Formats: sequence, C-alpha cells, structure tokens
Amino acid sequence: MRICVLGAGYVGLATGVMFGELCHEVICADIDRTRVRAVNSGRLPFYEPPLERELRKLVRSGSLKATEDVEWAVGESDIIFICVQTPSMPSGRIDIRPVKSASRNVGRALKKSQGYKLVVVKSTVVPGTTDSVVKPLLEAGSNKKAGKDFGLCMNPEFLQEGSALKDSIEPSRIVVGSGDERSAKILLDLYKPVKSPKIRTDLRTAEMIKYASNAFLATKISYSNEIANICVRLGIDSQKVLEAVGMDPRIGPRFLKPGLGFGGSCLPKDVKALKDRAKQLGYNPRLLSTLLAINSIQPSEGVRLLEMELGGLSGKKIAVLGLAFKGGVDDVRETRALPLVMELLGKGAVVTAFDPMAMANFIRLMPTIRYASSAAECLNGADACIVQADWPEFKKLGRKEFSSMKHPIVVDGRRFLDPESVRRAGAKYLGIGFGSAE
Ligand code: UGA
Repeated sequence: MRICVLGAGYVGLATGVMFGELCHEVICADIDRTRVRAVNSGRLPFYEPPLERELRKLVRSGSLKATEDVEWAVGESDIIFICVQTPSMPSGRIDIRPVKSASRNVGRALKKSQGYKLVVVKSTVVPGTTDSVVKPLLEAGSNKKAGKDFGLCMNPEFLQEGSALKDSIEPSRIVVGSGDERSAKILLDLYKPVKSPKIRTDLRTAEMIKYASNAFLATKISYSNEIANICVRLGIDSQKVLEAVGMDPRIGPRFLKPGLGFGGSCLPKDVKALKDRAKQLGYNPRLLSTLLAINSIQPSEGVRLLEMELGGLSGKKIAVLGLAFKGGVDDVRETRALPLVMELLGKGAVVTAFDPMAMANFIRLMPTIRYASSAAECLNGADACIVQADWPEFKKLGRKEFSSMKHPIVVDGRRFLDPESVRRAGAKYLGIGFGSAE
C-alpha cells in the first residue's frame, strides 16, 4: 500500500515509520519546510532515538520520504492518515484549524484523483468532529461522497512519547471507527500484521475512547497525588501505600506514581477539551475539574517540602533538575517545571536549572533564570535541589556532586530516586508523598 501521513509530529512520524517497517511506501507531508528537510535527511524534529534510527533506515532505503506538497502526497497514496496537531486554546477547547486545513487539502486532492482512497483521522478530536467537520470538508472539496467514492475512518493513537516506536508496533489495542463496512475492512486489513486486539466502532465512539483513556490516566495520577498529599501529612510513605493498592488487579500498578503533576501535549489538553465539551452539552464534569485542580497544586507540594527544610526560600539557591514534562524527552509542553520555577521565583529563590535534552526548548519559555551545562554544575553551591523530570542520569548523582551543594538536600519530585542511595551519598532525601521520614 502507499500510505500518506499528514503532519510530521510525534504521531505522524511514528505512524509513518511503523507502516514503513511493515513494508509499505510512506510519504510524510507537512507544511513546515524545516520539518520536511529534517525528515528527508533522516532526522526527527524531536528527541526520540529509537524512532530516529528506524526513520533513517527507511529514508535511506527510499521507502519513506517527506514533502511540503500535500496534494501530491495524497494523490500518490491509497490511505491518508491525518495526524496534525489539535492544540489547546485558553478556554480548554481544542483548535481544530489544522484538522480543517488538512481536510480541505485532502478534499482538493481527492477531487483530482482517480480510484478509491481511504482517509483516516488520527489527530485527537472531540467526539463528532470526524463526522461533522472532516467529512463535510472532504465531500465539499472533492465533490465526492464519503462511504461511497472514498472511505473515512477514525483511528485514535495511544503512544507515549519516549516509547513512540514500540507503542506503535505493539499497541495495547487498535480502535477502528468508521461509518461504513468497506472503510473499516481496509483499515483492519492494513493492521492485520499487528497482533493487538482490534476494536471496531463508529466514528464518535472511536474519538471518545481516546478522551476516556487519557482522562482515566490523568485520574489515576491525580488520585495518586491526592493520596500522597495526605500520606505526607500523616508521616506515611505513599509509595508503599500505592504499591499495595496497585496489586489489586482491578486497579493495576501503572500510573500510580505521585509527583509534581502531569504535563505533556496530551493529558492536560485532552482532559481540558473533554471538560469543555461536557460543559457545552450542559453537563458539569466534576471529576475532570477536580483532577485538573489537584494537578495544578502539585508543584506547590514540592515547594512546600523545600520550605519545610530551608525555612523561607528568599535568597536561597535552588537547583531544578529536569525541565521536560518527563524524563527521556525534549518536550516542554505543559511541563510542571514552569509553574514550579515561577513559584520558586515568586518566593524569592534564586533558580539554576538543567535538563539533558529540553533546555533549549525551556529557555524559550523562560529566558531569564540561570542555566547550568550539567547536573553537577547545577548542584554546585545550591541550598537544595528539586528533581522535576525522571531522567535516568539523575540516578547517577552521588557523593561528589552532592558534596558541592551548600546544603545537600534532594527533593524527589518524581519519586524515582532510591532514597537509600541518596542518603548513602551524604544528602538528605525528601520525596513527594513521603517527606523526610528516615
Ligand atoms: C500520554 C498517554 O500516556 C498516552 O497513552 C497517549 O497516547 C498520549 O498521552 C497521547 O494522547 O498522545 P505522554 O503524553 O507521552 O502520553 O505522557 P505520559 O507518559 O502519559 O506522562 C504524562 C505525564 O504524567 C508526565 O508529566 C509524567 O511525569 C506524569 N506521570 C505519569 C505521573 O506523574 N505519574 C505517573 O504514574 C505517570
């Protein structure tokens, strides 16, 4: 099959590489020239090493290429995946202009092309969008009928940044939403080599599955944070509590890690969009509002631990380790590092920050604080440090680095360091949902 992927972001490139690996010919189309050039030279526009390695192989073998010419790419392909972004607007509603523009372009290209093509929406859109926005635009632009002259499916994506390739090749499930049999059959056939459970639904249900999934993941995290916030005030280690809670198969162990809150381009955006849609429908989504409220206070929990140790923060030098929204990525969208640093500055602290990969992106958000060129330099002379993202390299910090601090105090904002190793290295360990219980 010839596959076209519109949008050379995380989802688009992971989808493109995945179908390239399955021996299809792939064209990635994007209006951003820099991205297109990067892809054609085998480079990703973001940090995701395993995906980049496979991309490079496919580009070299000629089975994946990128172009700015969207209409040409659609004309050349049998199946077109719309993978453009749907960013959050201040109200929480998603901005579907990129989806509309992609749909118009695809519509125009369908008009010029012969034969049956399948259009698949992979972008995260609120329930009803594929049917009431994408379909009419495709039909108007092409002068053809969906379900008859061309196919239409909705196929949400469940990959995590940092494991994009693995999650695309071995997804937990494949959801195929469609309004007609032929479209669904083509997409199910395309996914045949992928041995994951497949769920066939209508378009709106497929859209809702994506939101319901991310809302549940966000709920698990905010639940863990709430339990952790109570535990720390009782002098109980929340990690022990949540580990035991997660052993119940009805609950499960993953996404029960307390921390400074969830960030990234998806969980916050999707929960806000679902909340906004529910409100439009006259329903007040109390759980969604509350989990977002818990998320917004989590950075303060880290600041509170620092204050408890240092007294006030005015004039205190605080090292912030990890600026990405999680370890292993260079993405700073909705990173909790931003509210964390702002609160520290608001309390008069002097902040020095470091991240192995996301520093350039974070500097654009916050150009005025001090940045260090390594974790060791960041710690040097600090009154305390707070770890905001779970980069594996922070686990290697030891006596040498901690002894350069004015006060060797480590606040683990992601509960991923080993408290014993930190203590053995001569520093005081404080964890979110744990405090300093020794
Ligand atoms: C998330 C979902 O996990 C994916 O399933 C989904 O496909 C994706 O959004 C999407 O909609 O595209 P991702 O944005 O890569 O993936 O981020 P996660 O790994 O889910 O982490 C989100 C945030 O939650 C991070 O800030 C992380 O530190 C935090 N988190 C995660 C916790 O605080 N505790 C946990 O137990 C897990």
